[in-house]
Amino acid sequence: MRLSGKVALVTGGARGLGAEQARGLALEGAKVVLADILDQEGRATELEIRGKGGEAQYLRLDVTSEDQWKSVLDRTAELFGSVNILVNNAGLVIPRVPIEDRSLEDWGRILAVNATGIFLGIKHAIPHMRRVGGGSIVNIASIAALGQYSLQEVSYAASKGAVRALTKVAASQYAREGIRCNSIYPGPMDTGMLRTFIPNEEKLAARLSRVPMGRLGNAAEVVAAVIYLSSDESAFTTGCDLVVDGGALTQ
Ligand SMILES: NC(=O)c1ccc[n+]([C@@H]2O[C@H](COP(=O)([O-])OP(=O)(O)OC[C@H]3O[C@@H](n4cnc5c(N)ncnc54)[C@H](O)[C@@H]3O)[C@@H](O)[C@H]2O)c1
Repeated sequence: MRLSGKVALVTGGARGLGAEQARGLALEGAKVVLADILDQEGRATELEIRGKGGEAQYLRLDVTSEDQWKSVLDRTAELFGSVNILVNNAGLVIPRVPIEDRSLEDWGRILAVNATGIFLGIKHAIPHMRRVGGGSIVNIASIAALGQYSLQEVSYAASKGAVRALTKVAASQYAREGIRCNSIYPGPMDTGMLRTFIPNEEKLAARLSRVPMGRLGNAAEVVAAVIYLSSDESAFTTGCDLVVDGGALTQ
């Protein structure tokens, strides 16, 4: 129960890594709001967490909408008393194409969710965290922000690079107020999202040849990092880049 008494908001919490984070935070005693645009999956995850004795609530949030951010954060505070932890996990991926073939429309769509969505979350969570004397913001970036560039889609890599910069600026601007902000950089994780981009064994083997541990990561390995950065165990850590990638960035 490392998060007993804390209130956490996880974006993209309906499925995939976000749902695992919501489950993991609830198991550690946090009251969790999972926010997403997938109402059915979100409600199912909420019920599953409640069924295991956790406290959870699904709320609809499109992270690109400033108005929705404000109302979801207000509602979270109303429901559970405060907002102590924000996990900015919602993200979009598109198949890689050469830069000259990437449309401006797709570039804008990816940046809107993966970068602007996190900016808005940080912006509107800060007043809530200040009110309770501090908090922890955890941003889910990707190794695409830091390397293996020949494998990366430009819009995704740029959006995740923006997450890194946002994290550092927020960490330094709010450190004195007890508001911490850190980023996690997962490598290839064994999730539905990844499997749609690596649909067969041949593609999987090619991808794993660039991961020294020779395997995909498990969601639990990202969840462990989220819990650490959310909890007071990481009280002196802010602005950090926590890589969870099986050694991929050593390549
Ligand atoms: N799976 C991987 O291998 C991997 C690796 C590195 C980083 N990541 C990052 O981890 C995060 C979660 O990825 P995942 O693998 O669970 O993918 P996923 O597609 O299963 O989950 C992403 C979630 O974000 C939600 N979402 C998308 N647009 C949204 C919006 N506008 N507003 C609110 N929610 C929205 C989706 O509905 C979905 O529930 C993403 O930020 C992704 O970039 C994943």
